[in-house]
Amino acid sequence: MKNKSFFSCQSCGAKSPKWLGRCPACGEWNSLVEETDLEDIPLPEQAFALSEPVVYGEYQASDKPRIPVGIQEVHSVLGGGVVSGSLVLVGGEPGIGKSTLLLQMSRDFAAAGISVLYVSGEESLDQIKLRGGRLGVGGGPLYLLAETNLERILAQAEKLHPNILVVDSVQTVFSSKLSSGPGTISQVREAANQVFRFAKRNAIPAFLIGHITKEGSLAGPKSLEHIVDVVLLFEGERDHSHRVLRVLKNRFGPVSELAIFEMTAAGLEPIPDPSAFFLKERPNNEAGSVVVATIKGSRPLLIEVQSLVSPTLFSSNPRRMTVGLDHYRTSMLLAVIERKLGYTFGSEDIYLNVAGGLEVEEPAADLGIVMGVVSCLMNRPVPAGLAVFGEVGLSGEVRSVGQAVARAKEAAALGFNSLLLPEGNAAVPAGEKIDGLRLLGARTIRQAVELVF
Ligand code: TYD
Ligand code: MG
Repeated sequence: MKNKSFFSCQSCGAKSPKWLGRCPACGEWNSLVEETDLEDIPLPEQAFALSEPVVYGEYQASDKPRIPVGIQEVHSVLGGGVVSGSLVLVGGEPGIGKSTLLLQMSRDFAAAGISVLYVSGEESLDQIKLRGGRLGVGGGPLYLLAETNLERILAQAEKLHPNILVVDSVQTVFSSKLSSGPGTISQVREAANQVFRFAKRNAIPAFLIGHITKEGSLAGPKSLEHIVDVVLLFEGERDHSHRVLRVLKNRFGPVSELAIFEMTAAGLEPIPDPSAFFLKERPNNEAGSVVVATIKGSRPLLIEVQSLVSPTLFSSNPRRMTVGLDHYRTSMLLAVIERKLGYTFGSEDIYLNVAGGLEVEEPAADLGIVMGVVSCLMNRPVPAGLAVFGEVGLSGEVRSVGQAVARAKEAAALGFNSLLLPEGNAAVPAGEKIDGLRLLGARTIRQAVELVF
């Protein structure tokens, strides 16, 4: 084995034999850092065990045992608990609540008699203890270790043999096999690889915390996604108290799951009824506010889309601003409104916002955006008890979307009395009943406007 030195881009991971001011692969400036790598380290399993091919029909799949997670929402996000021997990466921006979430999970594991080794390279034991006090961490087999050396961490883990290992964070630990500093791409990858092998060898599930910046440019979690079994992303706006936990990858379950939490003085509280949470401050009878029935993950979520149209002052370029919506899609919808409904807003600024700092990417929000903008242009509020969903095409046609019944049921459950939806979705499948909801099926946006206003 020989140590080879090279330069690697901390943004995209590309390697170069010499230093360059700009990464040729991703174009990032000043991102190349000298690193040394141990080349050609064979994975032990692959090096020593020669596996034989098996006939598909004769192979008995082993049902890997899963460890239940105390927080029900996280339990289901993981597809029903943590699979033994799996490596879970929990990514998110600094300060979003990753350590808090993992400490809360560790608290519940320990309370249930499941032993946890919580390794922190970020905080001292005093700091963890202080946070634990707020989170109500009680007794049970929860072990803390303040350590950044990877080999020492894993030696302790082998000795203790806990039921769960948590490493906070992958950017702070370093392997003494490599000379580059903690947080560099090679160190981060080496850490993930070693913890992965530890988890598989001992059948102990491990959680790795990883920081990512908004641009995703920090060395780290992006380059680990293919190594780990599960990638959870913890997101939220700093100035909003809610946090969204999403699955980006899961080798043992669905990737559409998601859970919503509120950050409180006593840690993360699951929000059992997210639709009500996001609608609770909706203004009454204001033009431009529309409730859209979207699907987040695999569950329906009602959110408020707000629009504001105001005359462009001091400039010949009207502004088009969107927060939480796809900018290009929205521009397209504005063009459709102009062409198909006969409005002109060449001298109006248009602002669109999803309340609560949420993001909505699905086309099913189209009809809601259109109705919101039209409501502003007409200066007439949409009826208070109306929810909307539907995709809008370039000819102004309203197209059906998936999971119509789930969306309608969520609207009915929250007390809405009418629902504007694509005509193609308006026929409720046999056997499904939506109580107390008047369905307004529309074929075109013109028809939708006539039905509502
Ligand atoms: P933290 O878990 O340290 O974030 P990360 O590990 O992702 O960097 O959480 C940081 C923020 O959460 C911090 O600004 C304080 C806040 N917080 C609360 O509001 N309530 C709490 O009970 C705790 C523990 C933290
Ligand atoms: Mg932290």
